[in-house]
Amino acid sequence: MTAPPRIDVLYSEEAIAARVESLADEIRATGPRDLLVVAILKGSFVFAADLIRALHRAGLAPEVEFMSLSSYGGGYESKGTITVLRDVDSDVGGRDILLVDDILESGRTIAFARNLLLERGARRVDVVVLLDKPGKRKAVIDADFVGFVCPDYFVVGYGMDAGHAWRQLPFIGVLSAPAGEAEGT
Ligand code: IMP
Ligand code: MG
Repeated sequence: MTAPPRIDVLYSEEAIAARVESLADEIRATGPRDLLVVAILKGSFVFAADLIRALHRAGLAPEVEFMSLSSYGGGYESKGTITVLRDVDSDVGGRDILLVDDILESGRTIAFARNLLLERGARRVDVVVLLDKPGKRKAVIDADFVGFVCPDYFVVGYGMDAGHAWRQLPFIGVLSAPAGEAEGT
């Protein structure tokens, strides 16, 4: 029998909750009009769920859409090619969009999604990520709003996975002894 992996807490439930509330205030302060939140599945679903409720408390009434993009084809490094696995249903023409993702790493996923929405005529596309890992950036892109600047660890929890596991953790942790293949989406 192999021992279960050790997961060390990097950002606690309380730290995440406090940061999500202040992110919502920062977003509110930029004065978005007729806001459409586009959450990139799967990794951002917990963050997006908390963020839209914090946006409500901050006085905004966003509509919510989801996009699923392939990023990691298995393994720890994201691949260069991005494809749309599930698209938004709404017309994004003329809309103010808030693109929500869990982690900005190479930047390829967010750069692809942002360009796609702008090509479709979005008025403005702002990017919010819970974690920014600037060490591995490949595309020229920055987030407009960042929860935490994160060291180059492979993290799990609060929606983020390793090989489909650990999304359910209420905190963000570092997996010290991962078993099998990791796959972030
Ligand atoms: P990139 O910016 O295109 O490299 O892709 C970032 C995406 O890879 C994130 O949205 C996650 O889905 C995934 N990812 C990157 N780092 C991690 C990690 O440490 N844990 C889990 N997923 C990750
Ligand atoms: Mg992702």
